[in-house]
Amino acid sequence: MSQALDEIKIGGLGASRKRVEDNRFIRGKGNYTDDITLPGMLHMEILRSPLAHARISSIDTSKAWDIPGVHLVLTGEMMATRNLAWMPTLSYDTQAVLATDKVRFQGQEVACVIADDPYIAKDACEAIDVDYEPLPVIVNPGQAVAEGAPVIRDDKDSQRDNVIYDWEVGDAAGTDRAFAQADVISKLKLHYPRSHPSPIECCGSIADFNRATSKLTVYMTTQAPHIIRAAVALVAELPEHMIRIISPDIGGGFGNKVPVYPGYVCSILASILLERPVKWIEDKSGNLISTGFARDVYLDGEMALRRDGKILGVRIHTDADHGAFFSDAQPSKFKIGLMHSAFAAYDIPAAHLTARGTYSNKAPGGVAYRCSFRVTEAMFFQERMIQAAADDLGMDQAQFRRMNFVRDDQFPHRTPFGFLLDSGQYAKCLDVGLKAIGYEDFRREQEEARKRGRLLGLGISTMTEPLGAGNSREYDILGIKMFDSAELKVHMTGKAILRTGARTQGQGHETTWAQIVSHELGLPAEDVVVEEGDTDTAPFGMGTYASRSTPVAGAAVAMVSRKIRAKARKLAAHLLEVSEEDVEWELGRFYVRSAPDRGVTIQECAMAAYSNMPDGMEPGLENTAYYDPPNLTWPFACYIVTVEVDPQTGVWDVLKMVAVDDCGVRINPMIVEGQIMGGLTEAYAMASMQFITFDADGNCVGSNYMDYLLPSAWETPGFELHSEVVTPCPHHPIGAKGIGECAAVGGPAAFVNAVMDALSGMGVRNIDMPLLPDRVWEAITYRRDISGAPPVRSDD
Ligand code: CDP
Repeated sequence: MSQALDEIKIGGLGASRKRVEDNRFIRGKGNYTDDITLPGMLHMEILRSPLAHARISSIDTSKAWDIPGVHLVLTGEMMATRNLAWMPTLSYDTQAVLATDKVRFQGQEVACVIADDPYIAKDACEAIDVDYEPLPVIVNPGQAVAEGAPVIRDDKDSQRDNVIYDWEVGDAAGTDRAFAQADVISKLKLHYPRSHPSPIECCGSIADFNRATSKLTVYMTTQAPHIIRAAVALVAELPEHMIRIISPDIGGGFGNKVPVYPGYVCSILASILLERPVKWIEDKSGNLISTGFARDVYLDGEMALRRDGKILGVRIHTDADHGAFFSDAQPSKFKIGLMHSAFAAYDIPAAHLTARGTYSNKAPGGVAYRCSFRVTEAMFFQERMIQAAADDLGMDQAQFRRMNFVRDDQFPHRTPFGFLLDSGQYAKCLDVGLKAIGYEDFRREQEEARKRGRLLGLGISTMTEPLGAGNSREYDILGIKMFDSAELKVHMTGKAILRTGARTQGQGHETTWAQIVSHELGLPAEDVVVEEGDTDTAPFGMGTYASRSTPVAGAAVAMVSRKIRAKARKLAAHLLEVSEEDVEWELGRFYVRSAPDRGVTIQECAMAAYSNMPDGMEPGLENTAYYDPPNLTWPFACYIVTVEVDPQTGVWDVLKMVAVDDCGVRINPMIVEGQIMGGLTEAYAMASMQFITFDADGNCVGSNYMDYLLPSAWETPGFELHSEVVTPCPHHPIGAKGIGECAAVGGPAAFVNAVMDALSGMGVRNIDMPLLPDRVWEAITYRRDISGAPPVRSDD
């Protein structure tokens, strides 16, 4: 009889284990960057530009230097003497650290003051006199490419206009042929507005340079500490082994904490110059106005359709507004960061995408906010186009999707843009969703309600997205290949410490990674402590973003556990005095095949590794695994929303929302549900209330939480989650696919589609997000589309 441990009881795969990290968070014992105080620490504040585009004619810092308690005032001119006025970005561009020649967006960093406390530093910033000569301002791609537009990046010798890239992918001729054969051509144009990841904790750093040891330690809010270490080594020309980046607890990242920001660089330089620790903590407006924005893409597409509903081809053009510096992270081969993952879930014979990126006088944009690079825009556009196409054909939304999905027997499936999909059960997910929402009944109810003047709507969003950047053949950032790592040390008593190259920012890695070790080794999850974020102790990794942790670092955790098990098997054979071939494994113990009662536990093997190893065996039970995934993982999601729109006010309420997520094997079902609920909340926020826009002078509208709204539990509708569809990832060691961002990526289209469905027959084809009541009311009342983000229609 099996003596295997009960996996759920030991907190292994599939256990809804409570998050171990919450123990310290809910007690207020988290250790965030701002919680750290070092002896002799100084404080840094940043002076930001009030103008969006202006030449700097002079900067006078003398009054700031005179304020008691001020230790250093940094300007671009001073940075330039150390070759640090500009820094390279993750997308082969350059970004001003402190402005020298011009300011290029409102909120740009102009000077820094380092003082005894943050208040003195702030006052001293206000004492700095900067003379600006205002220049014409560009706030959208249309203006950026208009004839005679001022060249924003005149600092670059090769830049004669405001275009960053002009890129295409797909089969242009094949797509032309598809359109020539089409019975119906469906068109859609829209703008995915600029948004901000807005983590509750803003960015910050404490740089601590020790002249005696030549060691630079930086505590900072980064999602990718090892990449930062490499960047600091290259930019500041410091030896990499003398740099230690520690990313303590992080209060949310969502992509905002991937880029390198000027504040980090200035605090490092200040600490080197002053030989004292220097702390910089950004305030909320600083974060909202100057750090990595997301989206801001104009999308224009058309779909070639056969009368019976078959999609023959798709053409897409995108115009992305990247702000003043092209600073987002993206795989270097894909200029618009995987935008060409659009339509992956559908079997479409031909597709062609053109993508243009332009500079504007806005803060750097394009950061992947809870998504893999530009995937959110791709999926939003795809699902809005699918709805528009079904409407144009007069077909049922669900049926149109079902007939065009990649079928279960078509995997592996190559998309027209070149991605390889390996698994999925798309129609099944849709069926579960339709049943849960009560599709047929709702359609009847909707028809009845219409007769009485009530506007009900149902929106579907079905999508697969590429999660888990690498593999290293295709994905790199600045040439650094995208793989990840895990190191496992099992102590003699069977307790273990696991370190990975990822960095949790609230996703619960400390809980779930231990569960993978548990699954592989039978160690109780509570006996495995997980550490991430310290480059002196963690193995090299590319960090956490693009939901890559489970697909890549999580896989490395399984692989390193298997290495440990392989050695433990040898130890077991030694202890049981049989040959290794005669040893079998069941969860938690090895036993003799011919005598199953004779066995040793994994803990006994651990003790033997330090006390009783066979002759010639290296002592200890530790190992490291670097994992380069063969492919991305492709989770699938079906989100369905029903709404009621009040025609008198434009207010819309969610009646019901169901989510069917297939992320393969779930490590911790409760954490997965938390990820989905968080993502759906962000999706609802984008669809209903969030916008962060710029007036014609480039003033940022939405630089505080009074204007840029984060929904609380009170506003957020309830979500009904379904987990019955599980298609294991065929190449992941435990069959898991990423989940962290699916709902934020796929969710917005479900909400917008629902409102548009409620308005069907009213001559309204599109309302750009956010669907604020006044915009919906305007669309209903005047029977017209509403485009651009409020209050300024930035496409006017
Ligand atoms: O990279 P990031 O951690 O943001 O995203 P992820 O890999 O999708 O994981 C988010 C959280 O969900 C982590 O705690 C994962 O371990 C967990 N997860 C899971 O339990 N099962 C899955 N199939 C995928 C993720």
